[in-house]
Amino acid sequence: MTDRIRAGIVGGGFMATVHARAIRRSGGILSAVVASTPQRSQAAAEELGAESAADTLDQLLDSDVDVVHVCTPNATHAPLVRAVVAAGKHVVCEKPLAVSPAEAAELVALAAEAGVTATVPFVYRFYPMVREARARVADGTAGPVRLLHGSYLQDWLAEDTDDDWRVDPAAGGPSRAFADIGVHWCDLVEFVSGHRITRLVARTITAVPQRGSRPVTTEDAAVVLFETDHGAFGNLTVSQVSQGRKNRLWFSLDGAAESLCFDQESPESLWIGGREVNRQLLRGTSEHPAAARYTVVPAGHPQGYQDCFDAFVADTHAALGGPAPDGLPTFADGLRAARVTQAVLDSSRTSSWVDVTP
Ligand SMILES: NC(=O)c1ccc[n+]([C@@H]2O[C@H](COP(=O)([O-])OP(=O)(O)OC[C@H]3O[C@@H](n4cnc5c(N)ncnc54)[C@H](O)[C@@H]3O)[C@@H](O)[C@H]2O)c1
Repeated sequence: MTDRIRAGIVGGGFMATVHARAIRRSGGILSAVVASTPQRSQAAAEELGAESAADTLDQLLDSDVDVVHVCTPNATHAPLVRAVVAAGKHVVCEKPLAVSPAEAAELVALAAEAGVTATVPFVYRFYPMVREARARVADGTAGPVRLLHGSYLQDWLAEDTDDDWRVDPAAGGPSRAFADIGVHWCDLVEFVSGHRITRLVARTITAVPQRGSRPVTTEDAAVVLFETDHGAFGNLTVSQVSQGRKNRLWFSLDGAAESLCFDQESPESLWIGGREVNRQLLRGTSEHPAAARYTVVPAGHPQGYQDCFDAFVADTHAALGGPAPDGLPTFADGLRAARVTQAVLDSSRTSSWVDVTP
């Protein structure tokens, strides 16, 4: 491996641009890009400022890239990751890692056998105030967590004229809203609380049954009630049809001593509730080194989503040459998300409580 990590990207859409910036900002080189056709690869390579365009994935894998970032529609993740891992390259694969738990488990096993680093961008873990909340739970400041609740709401599919590849199960998989954004919430809340969701009961909702000429079979929203391995309970509402909500991931962890609330749309502060006083803890005024580690500009100079990606890619690249930094989301976390998603679908179908495969 060269001193500077050489990264390749598969895909030329929204996530490819975010990953391309993060690769550069973490000191890597964007070596090559491959999209769905040679023409699109060329256009994407120019737009992203890559050294070269690859006509095919094989061509990209034959090059000197150290790590490949898979940024394509969900159903393509498994075949692409199989090829990347078979070529002995490290891999970053977008969430959802795969469209079924069986596929996700296979990818975990293949990456382990190949001895490559394999990560999934559950990037909300990289907000400093998320690390602050996690530290307050871990060191006992918040007290045992009794309730975990919140929502992840968007509105970009609220109208019946709204459509996307995610609506097509052949491209997006059998779950849409939950697999797309519900998994972020579950990953984040499990990460911060240290709890694991053990069983749940869920109802999935298709609010818009027809989008243009396309009948809709996947969920626009889901409501979930769950229990954790620490005997706590929680609930979650996930929606892509909630007018006015753009990317509103919000949670509250109600501990015996403190309630901790985080809002992804206002990520520079953590609300800390107590019987006597409520506080808004601002980034940069935190004592926890775990939070300070992800601070890149002084307090009052807002950090955001791209900074999370930069930190995630920097930590992934660090793991290629040494031990994985604490909190780096891996394929195992992608498998976990696939299992929670499956439990949500199973519960909604059977109208019953379902155990989440540990
Ligand atoms: N981690 C996050 O915060 C986050 C946010 C948004 C999207 N995502 C995930 O990123 C992935 C991509 O989403 P997006 O929003 O960038 O989609 P997009 O539609 O903007 O881009 C997808 C790209 O993949 C290309 N593509 C399709 N099939 C391909 C193939 N077989 N080989 C090469 N390229 C191919 C398309 O041409 C397009 O350029 C999805 O899995 C999505 O769930 C993650």
